[in-house]
Amino acid sequence: MTLTLSLKQSKLRGWPGLLEAYRSYLPVTEETPVVTLQEGNTPLVPVPSIAHQVGREVEVFVKSDGLNPTGSFKDRGMTLAISKAKEAGAKAVICASTGNTSASAAAYARRAGMGAFVLIPDGYVALGKLAQALLYGAEVLAIKGNFDQALEIVRDVADKYPVTLVNSVNPYRLEGQKTGAFEVVDTLGDAPDWLCVPVGNGGNVTAYWMGFCQYHQAGKCDRLPKMMGFQAAGAAPIVKGHPIATPETVASAIRIGNPASWGKAVAAQQASQGSFTAVSDKEILEAYRLLASNEGIFCEPASAASVAGLLKVKDQVPTGAKIVCVLTGHGLKDPDVAIKHSHNNQFQQGIEPTVDAVAAVMGF
Ligand code: F0G
Repeated sequence: MTLTLSLKQSKLRGWPGLLEAYRSYLPVTEETPVVTLQEGNTPLVPVPSIAHQVGREVEVFVKSDGLNPTGSFKDRGMTLAISKAKEAGAKAVICASTGNTSASAAAYARRAGMGAFVLIPDGYVALGKLAQALLYGAEVLAIKGNFDQALEIVRDVADKYPVTLVNSVNPYRLEGQKTGAFEVVDTLGDAPDWLCVPVGNGGNVTAYWMGFCQYHQAGKCDRLPKMMGFQAAGAAPIVKGHPIATPETVASAIRIGNPASWGKAVAAQQASQGSFTAVSDKEILEAYRLLASNEGIFCEPASAASVAGLLKVKDQVPTGAKIVCVLTGHGLKDPDVAIKHSHNNQFQQGIEPTVDAVAAVMGF
């Protein structure tokens, strides 16, 4: 009886969220209020069909970070950024966003009882992300400009007015996001050979590197991975070596021309002997469809850039390597792209509602 009860209780308690799970590695104290939606602990899923395409006896896994509470990796950083903002007495937060940061900031701010202001590029945020920010109760301000302009504005607003900036220039964001690396090591037993990640502002590639280095120093892993960053070809300032004034890509999450963490991202790439590579929208969409139709994994287009990138540079992969591709956001975030870019011969409409008509279409 007692045993059943305690088992039930521990099941109910379950995973405590990132701040409790990795407390000793994070800048929190007993005084920090923990604002959590029990984010983190996302699956590392083998993707054999991708491994097969790479060849060379490699093992490939995807880190399904779209399974976080608001559907993207942003929750890893937001639990810490919002907890620290609350600890400091903030009443409201602000961010610029291509969509996912705004959804995450809105959810965590509202859970903490704070106001949330989000600036988005009008017309360039995927439907699911906009729906989230609205329903979570953020003030959504769509500007007639792109993400880079929105980020400049929110930096100034946060300087002048009593609102806390929760873009990844807030150091707590990257501190929280580094837990992705901890989880990869905790699951694999060591760091992988390569960590493939889509790059927009360069925050996540920086955070993963921080996490691997910290775990390495703590003796939790013996080696460090190469950080392999992938940008969309129409929004590839780091690859090209200069800002892009009018970035364009189907992967709206990474439609960024002047990354906020540019220097840190390059430092991570250099220290890890990794690289930055551009992938075309066509390559992104191919990987996006491949993951869904071959592996049953629905990620958003920006996330598929990590897999598209791996396939693009597969000739550089060492034999027998272990590779992790980070799938940063859930596919349901962007239903428009999914419908527009699925194969149109799959969707047959106007069928008579009879068994015979359906069977005929099925080819029986
Ligand atoms: N993947 C997804 C799904 C994203 O939403 C982002 C960034 C990235 C990758 C790139 O990560 O910026 O750390 O290099 N999204 C931000 C936002 C810009 O506003 O949601 P990064």
